[in-house]
Amino acid sequence: VAVGIGVLGAGTVGGTLVRRLIEQGSVITARTGLELEVRRVAVRSLSKARPFSVPAGVLTDRPEDVISDPTVDLVVEVMGGREPAGTLVLAALAAGKPVVTANKELIASRGPELFAAAERAGVPLLFEAAVGGGIPIIRPLMETLAGEQIARVLGIVNGTTNYILTRMAEEGCPYGEALAEAQELGYAEADPSDDVNGTDAASKASILASLAFGTWVDPMQVYREGIEELQPADLVFAADLGYAVKLLAIAERLPGGVSARVHPALLPVEHPLAGVRGATNAVFIEGSSIGELVFSGPGAGGEPTAAAMLGDVIDAARELLAGSEVAPSVRFGPGEVIDFGEVVTRLYVRLEVEDRPGVLSRIASAFAEASVSICAVRQEGRGDRAMLIIVTHAAPEAQGRRAVESLRQLDVVQDVAAVLRVVGEGE
Ligand code: NDP
Ligand code: HSE
Repeated sequence: VAVGIGVLGAGTVGGTLVRRLIEQGSVITARTGLELEVRRVAVRSLSKARPFSVPAGVLTDRPEDVISDPTVDLVVEVMGGREPAGTLVLAALAAGKPVVTANKELIASRGPELFAAAERAGVPLLFEAAVGGGIPIIRPLMETLAGEQIARVLGIVNGTTNYILTRMAEEGCPYGEALAEAQELGYAEADPSDDVNGTDAASKASILASLAFGTWVDPMQVYREGIEELQPADLVFAADLGYAVKLLAIAERLPGGVSARVHPALLPVEHPLAGVRGATNAVFIEGSSIGELVFSGPGAGGEPTAAAMLGDVIDAARELLAGSEVAPSVRFGPGEVIDFGEVVTRLYVRLEVEDRPGVLSRIASAFAEASVSICAVRQEGRGDRAMLIIVTHAAPEAQGRRAVESLRQLDVVQDVAAVLRVVGEGE
C-alpha cells in the first residue's frame, strides 16, 4: 500500500527531500517495504526551478490544498516560520494526518499545544531535524534517555554561526564574507539574523532543555546573545589562553529549577566541543548514570536535514500503516525556570586601560566589591592604551555583571571591550 506524502515547502530542505523521495523510492521500498509517493508539494512561486520534476498538478501555491487533498496521508512541513506553518500543522493533525517538521521555531514556540493536538488526533508529530540537522538527538532524548536524570546539555546547535566562527578563527575571514558563504551553502535561515543573534539556537535550547528535563522552557525564557558583537581579537586572545570560542546552547538542571541560555563561550581546547568545526553541530550530554555522551554530525544544509526528515517520514508511515494507537511520547511537568542572573558563570573580560600604578588594584576592587574572585590576569601592551584580560572564578552571573558595571564607571578603564563566559572548566 502506498502512503501519500504532502510537502509544505520545497526550498533547501524540502526540495532535497522531495528529490530523494522520488529518486530513491525503490531503494526505500526495498529497505522498508514502504511505498512513499509524493502527491502534493506547496511552494510560494510556481515558476521557480526545482531540483525535482513532478507531474502537473502536484505543485501548488495553495498550501491548504496539500492538507485537504484526500490522497495525502502524511504531511511534511518545511516552509519555516510560525505562520502559516502553525495553522497548517494543526489542520493536518486535526485531519488525522501525521506531521513531520524541521521547524524549530514553531516547535519551540508552540510545542505543548502541538503535542496535545497530535495526541488528541492519535497521530505522530515528529521533529528530529529541528535540532542538530542530520544528527539523531531528539529520538535519543525522548526514548533512549527517557529514564536518565540529565544534569546538563551543552550544544553547538547552529551550523551558520559555527561555520562563521571557524572561518574567522582559522583563516581570519571577515565576518560578512563568512556569513555570505554560509547562506550560499544553504545553512542559514531565510532571515540570517535569526542565526547570528542567537534566536535559532535559543529555539533549539528551548527544545533540548524541555526534552532533557521534562519542564517546558519557552524560548522567551532562554537568555540569548549572538555572535554579531564578537570581535576577531577575542578569538585570537582566547586561542592564546588555550580556549576556542563557540556559540553554545546550555541547558542545566539546578537546585531550584532549570536554566537555558545561548551565548558565545570560551571552551578549553581539550573539551569535546572545542574542535567542532564548520557547519558541524555537536551536543554534549551529562547524565547521572550514563556519564558523558557526545552526538555530532552535519548540523545544517539540505542533504543532512532531509536525511533526518526521511527517517521521520518512514517512522510515521510505519505507524500509519500499523493503524495502532499512538502512545503518548512526551510529557512536561511544572517546574521553575531560573533567571540567568542566578546562574553561576565565569567571565572573560577584556579592558582597555591606562598602564600606570594603581590601575590594577582599582580594577581588582571592582571585582572584590561584587564578590567575584579573579582567577587570572594578563596584560598586552603598555602605555596609554594597554589591554587587560581578566578571567574570573565562578560566581552568580548577576554579581559578574555588577562588577562589569563598576568597571565601566572607572576613569582608568577606557573601554570594556569584551565580556564573554568561560564554560567547561572550574564552574
Ligand atoms: P527555504 O527558505 O529554503 O524554503 C522554504 C520553502 O517554503 C520554499 O520552497 C518556499 O517557497 C516555501 N514557502 C514559504 N512560505 C510559503 C507559503 N506561505 N506558502 C507556500 N510555500 C511557502 O527554507 P529551508 O528549506 O532552509 O528551511 C525550511 C525549514 O527547515 C525551516 O523551518 C528551517 O528552520 C528548517 N531547517 C533548515 C535547515 C537548513 O539547513 N536549511 C536545517 C534544519 C532545519 P518558494 O521556494 O517558492 O520560495
Ligand atoms: N540555520 C540553521 C543553522 C539551520 O545554521 O544551524 C539548521 O537548523
